[in-house]
Amino acid sequence: NLVENGSFIWSSPSNIALVKYWGKKAQQIPENPSISFTLDNCKTTTKLSFTKRESDNNFSFEVFLDDEKKDDFKPKIETFFRRIEVYLPFLKDYHFKIETSNTFPHSSGIASSASGMSALALCLMSIEKELISSYGTSNTMEESHFIQKASFLARLGSGSACRSLEGDLVVWGKHDDIKGSSDLFGIKYPYEVHANFKNYQDTILLVDKGEKQVSSTIGHNLMHGHPFAQERFKQANNNLTDLVDILKDGDLNKFVALVESEALTLHAMMMTSMPYFILMKPNTLEIINKIWGYRKRSGSKVCFTLDAGANVHVLYPENEATKVLEFIKNELVAYCQNGQYICDIIGLGANKL
Ligand code: PMV
Repeated sequence: NLVENGSFIWSSPSNIALVKYWGKKAQQIPENPSISFTLDNCKTTTKLSFTKRESDNNFSFEVFLDDEKKDDFKPKIETFFRRIEVYLPFLKDYHFKIETSNTFPHSSGIASSASGMSALALCLMSIEKELISSYGTSNTMEESHFIQKASFLARLGSGSACRSLEGDLVVWGKHDDIKGSSDLFGIKYPYEVHANFKNYQDTILLVDKGEKQVSSTIGHNLMHGHPFAQERFKQANNNLTDLVDILKDGDLNKFVALVESEALTLHAMMMTSMPYFILMKPNTLEIINKIWGYRKRSGSKVCFTLDAGANVHVLYPENEATKVLEFIKNELVAYCQNGQYICDIIGLGANKL
């Protein structure tokens, strides 16, 4: 390789699924397609510095979070490197310094794997691009190929990470109704989206910041032999079909019903696996009930969704922002750990800095 050293910085956001990915096959292939809103404020910024070295059979890298050395992150990154080595053959030719920071508190219970793995994948693709162009001026990489391969790599770090590179809606997983969709990488949602969904808001209520009870790897694996797995995968496909019309027509009532049902189904899968888990906390249920009460008395289209944890994502249209935020402050913040919440909005994806 002709390139001796250098560095790249990418910032990449988190995302929140509307139709959930839960269950995977070998090679991080999802059992069902999923779709997510890309977030904006919740993001990871990663600087990847690389220096040429005498290559051997090992990967050589160090990891820093907020300038602090993090050896406990190394196994996950080692696994990631091992999985992507065949697609990025230069990995053993360099020593890497990975410096990363998140806009959200590290132990907030907000998964940083999607933003973190996508930022790292993009940095690695920037190196690949530089290497390719160093071979001669006629060798360049198309922007679309760059993003697609970065998403492909990010998937091998953490499945949902492949949905974090672009905005504002991303589909991952093959679905007959969605042109260009693939199990291998995320694609920008290719169809019309009604103005009701423009600048959709997501306020994340931090209910429980403790260590995750169950890693998503274990969670996905619990779908193998799960009594309801096949029905669930079918349902996710059908929900994605329905969502295409909902997104086009701007029907917020149908949107609310579909998104909340997806969140509860995700948790139902965990509650009915063996072993079983309850990842909601009492305050998660308090918040859900408050949201239902508020919606009933005000006609608001606010709704909730959940990840594999106790925190609640409160989703609402931009034109309700002032009112819903007031409701959140008056009635929901009391259920958050240390009163913590994060205001976010649908975003446009990753940026090179
Ligand atoms: O990307 P993973 O393997 O951490 O899986 C995350 C799965 C959920 O966040 C629970 C749902 C989703 O589609 O993002």
